[in-house]
Amino acid sequence: MNAVKIKEDIFWVGVNDYQTTLFEGMWPIEQEGVSYNAYVINDEKVAIIDTVKSIKADEYIEKIKSIIGNKKVDYLIVNHMEPDHSSGIIELLAEYPDIKIVGNKKTFPIMNNFYQITENLHEVCEGDTLCLGKHTLQFFMTPMVHWPESMVTYDTIDKVLFSMDVFGSFKAPVGSIFDDENDLAAFEEPTRRYYACIVGKVAGQALKALNKLGGIEIGTICPSHGLIWRDNPKYILDMYVKMSAKETDPGVVIAYGSMYGCTQKAAETLAIALKNEGVGEVKLYNVAKTDISFIISDIWKYKGLFLGAPSYYGQIFPKMANLLYKLSEIKVDNHKVGFFADYSWSGGADKNFSAFIECAKVDVIDEILMIKGTPDEQDVLALNTLAKKMAEAIK
Ligand code: FEO
Repeated sequence: MNAVKIKEDIFWVGVNDYQTTLFEGMWPIEQEGVSYNAYVINDEKVAIIDTVKSIKADEYIEKIKSIIGNKKVDYLIVNHMEPDHSSGIIELLAEYPDIKIVGNKKTFPIMNNFYQITENLHEVCEGDTLCLGKHTLQFFMTPMVHWPESMVTYDTIDKVLFSMDVFGSFKAPVGSIFDDENDLAAFEEPTRRYYACIVGKVAGQALKALNKLGGIEIGTICPSHGLIWRDNPKYILDMYVKMSAKETDPGVVIAYGSMYGCTQKAAETLAIALKNEGVGEVKLYNVAKTDISFIISDIWKYKGLFLGAPSYYGQIFPKMANLLYKLSEIKVDNHKVGFFADYSWSGGADKNFSAFIECAKVDVIDEILMIKGTPDEQDVLALNTLAKKMAEAIK
């Protein structure tokens, strides 16, 4: 895509990345890609908001030049230092060495760590403004959403919020970057997966940031990833408020690991029982086959959660341990949770589940159901009882 006009003087100069397979080195994006959105305000003074990942810097600079021609760039506003938005700074400075870099007091130490840049810095604080001519920009700090230095930039004239990671999503827009020219339903899951995996740990701070931004008149939202919201910014605002407040929908996720099919059989029995109980959507995931980002995305959405795993050398099945680690981090304190474990030849999975329950302050629906090998008649009855308790808990 070429540079795209958003307002009279405001342009998208971002890029789509289909080359990176793992976002942050761990979250799969090879199917749908991701966009790194950057923007130019072509006023008396030229300001650029954020760069892109360095592997796409040439394309980004070409787009900037297609808008400003031979004009110089006066300011680079660094809303966020994570390298998906900042690593193109080296190439940008090579092209425009006199740029003044705008950030806050937490931006510059990180910039020094990553790129050893210490000159031409302009520090801004909460509420500070920067006049470009026609446009005046205002800055608001949004610490820990996503890093300590994170801030957003607001164009007070056109009511455009450059919101950095906030309101972002996985999935690179194809053909058009605008909300009104895309199928919003197709972005729902990528937005939730992005939120749950990247921002979920700091949902509390995200909610604070959203409350702060609630005081601003927002006409257009320009995030650093995903769609530009010019037609219906309320759609993404409402979705982010709901996710940050950890509001859930009816339904249950069953995430399980299974070495030889015994725990899988228990999980499938539970799924049928839950359906019979009328709990709504039931999602069944094998943690060894589905990347945890997709599982976490659905966990963020649904109120009920079952975790099941076999014991492995006296501990829990390692792929489940990985999911428990991430769930401890993002917390599932708004969920109703049930557990089932397979004894194998030693037990042990139950110990790990118990430790998780205690440390993550999980709201459990019942004791951990321990199954010895293949679920027998008694186990099936116990699984049906668990399903009933879950249905009651999430009503
Ligand atoms: Fe898209 Fe936190 O960087």
